[in-house]
Amino acid sequence: MASLVGCELRDGIAIVTIDAPPVNALGQSVRAELLAHIQEIEGRADIRAAVLRCAGRTFVAGADINELGKPPLSPVLPEVLEAIEAARIPWLAAIHGTALGGGLELALACTTRIADNKAKFGLPEVTLGMIPGAGGTVRLPRLIPMSEAVEIVTGGKPVTAPHALAIGLVDRLCETDLLSAAIAFATELAGELKPASLLDRPCRGAEEVDWQGKAVAIRAKARGAEAPMEALDALKENLELPAREALKKERQRFLRMAASEQAAALRYAFFSERNAGRSLTSIDSVPADLWRIGVVGGGTMGAGIATALLLSGSEVRLLERDTAAAEAATARVKDMLDASVARGAVSRDAAGNAIDRFFASPDEAELISCGLVIEAVFEDMDVKRGVFARLDAIMPKDAVLATNTSYLDVNVLAETTINPARVLGLHFFAPAHVMKLLEIVRGRDTGGRALSTGAALAKRLKKTSVVSGVCHGFIGNRIMAAYRRDCEFMLLAGALPAQIDAAMRDFGFAMGIFEVQDLSGLDIAWAQRKNTASARDASLPYSRIADMLCEGGRLGRKTNKGWYDYSSGKKTDDPEVTRIIEEERTSAGVTVHTFTDEQIMNRILGVMQREGQALLSEGIAESASDIDVVMLTGYGFPRHRGGPMYLASHSTDRAEGHQAARD
Ligand code: COA
Repeated sequence: MASLVGCELRDGIAIVTIDAPPVNALGQSVRAELLAHIQEIEGRADIRAAVLRCAGRTFVAGADINELGKPPLSPVLPEVLEAIEAARIPWLAAIHGTALGGGLELALACTTRIADNKAKFGLPEVTLGMIPGAGGTVRLPRLIPMSEAVEIVTGGKPVTAPHALAIGLVDRLCETDLLSAAIAFATELAGELKPASLLDRPCRGAEEVDWQGKAVAIRAKARGAEAPMEALDALKENLELPAREALKKERQRFLRMAASEQAAALRYAFFSERNAGRSLTSIDSVPADLWRIGVVGGGTMGAGIATALLLSGSEVRLLERDTAAAEAATARVKDMLDASVARGAVSRDAAGNAIDRFFASPDEAELISCGLVIEAVFEDMDVKRGVFARLDAIMPKDAVLATNTSYLDVNVLAETTINPARVLGLHFFAPAHVMKLLEIVRGRDTGGRALSTGAALAKRLKKTSVVSGVCHGFIGNRIMAAYRRDCEFMLLAGALPAQIDAAMRDFGFAMGIFEVQDLSGLDIAWAQRKNTASARDASLPYSRIADMLCEGGRLGRKTNKGWYDYSSGKKTDDPEVTRIIEEERTSAGVTVHTFTDEQIMNRILGVMQREGQALLSEGIAESASDIDVVMLTGYGFPRHRGGPMYLASHSTDRAEGHQAARD
């Protein structure tokens, strides 16, 4: 087997290179080879300093996630880091790409750090249900201020190279030729006295942290995820214990957490996301050119899609019905870009550059040079069919035509074209430039080129894509419609919206189903129910409560009233809604009973799982993990629980997990 760690010598400087594609994860073989090199270098009197670097796209991106949760294999990472820290000579980490988790801990064990100015640094262990296990919570706050360490360790988000330089996480940045800069730096270090290891230094600014306030904020944000609080506790351990004792406690905590249910669920989520949409990568067809993309319709959805495309580097040609509508669409896109700048998601320069690539007009000829056109007009089959017939007539034969729809039948739309093979559905989630999920809808006749274009687009937009067949609502909205319906039956049977929403929040959702409906508006689902009313099976139960709210003008937050009342500026329960529910209970003649929160959640999960099974058996979803990815990335399902299908296959854990969250 080819070696994963190499070493060469230049003028007394050892250059140790980890080369373990794809992301230089620190699996057992890498650790063993690295340790062997460290020991060998230690025994060579002619070596004055060492540079530790990586080949390929990134510095070490962490532990090998496949090894986590299993018995540790020797040598463990702390042993390797101790050997570097105790070395006679200085070690310099030369970082490009992302130094994450064990990768950053490796860099922290080195004497100094140099990085290219696009590198990123982070301890994302909390996103995998753990805390750092090789000194991250002990060495980091001795290098950078504790308040910064708290953000990095408990938030799990990486920081940029300029920020890392500002807080002292790296010593130098370089623009080009990282290796030469690293060798020059290492040569300087070789002539100096080796500084004390981080473990022999005090923490920086621990007294400036409001530990109590942080704990309250972290617990509220975590919504039942255990890792962020454990990470804070591990950092706090530094206040009471000497560094080497804190290191031991950190390791115990890490091992306990790596074996936890939440960590297993989060690892499953990590790999499920990377497997999603994989079936499309085997399609042997060249995708359409995506450097110029057409969008039809500049409402909220169309403008959001245009913004996402612009931020991915594409030029966008947006078609609107007249000049005024084109101007309104341009204003909408500008607002979205400004909001992205304000959120810190993009730089002002990137936003300025993006708007320069945006052209909105009522002239359909502007679309002709686009490789892909995404229709994002009003969710109405007749309107969309009209657009597709027109696009089919004007667009070159090799252009791909996509519809952004949440519910409509892509096959029926495709029938309006001469070549339905070039039609696919792309279900974006609002706001399209923020939400990670993209359902790629494969119609009956969708061809390889259209699908590979969908996959290439998702990659370009850095979205998580899942393939769905055609059905009403595709994967996500179909499951949501099913459990929303069941929640309304629970209202008829005795629960109230506030209780169901609280049970869902308690489980880990950011919002309950009724709060979500109020936010997104009740009218779209109402229109769908009216459209499909004639096809409804009259023998099946139907709750009229939502229809009654809509008929009374209660369409959610936008009308200040929906399932709740918002007219005071905040959400309050509304006796009028309770009255409507009670009236319906009476007219339906149901026997009312009380629900526990656990019964509510078990019912919701049961419906999600049954609908998920149906999607699998009908061939709409390609795998159970795809369904989980949709629910995690598009519908607020708590990530630390893995997803409804994951929970179905871990059903005993579910009851325990739910109990634990309530305790
Ligand atoms: N261990 C094992 N495999 C890993 C890995 C890790 N730490 N990090 C990434 N991979 C694998 C992915 O599963 C994927 O495999 P695949 O090609 O078979 O699907 C491959 O490496 C590429 O990862 P991907 O996420 O698709 O690439 P990217 O360029 O979009 O992102 C990273 C690269 C490193 C930013 C991202 O993979 C990441 O965040 N990894 C996890 C880092 C982490 O949490 N480290 C701490 C572990 S305790």
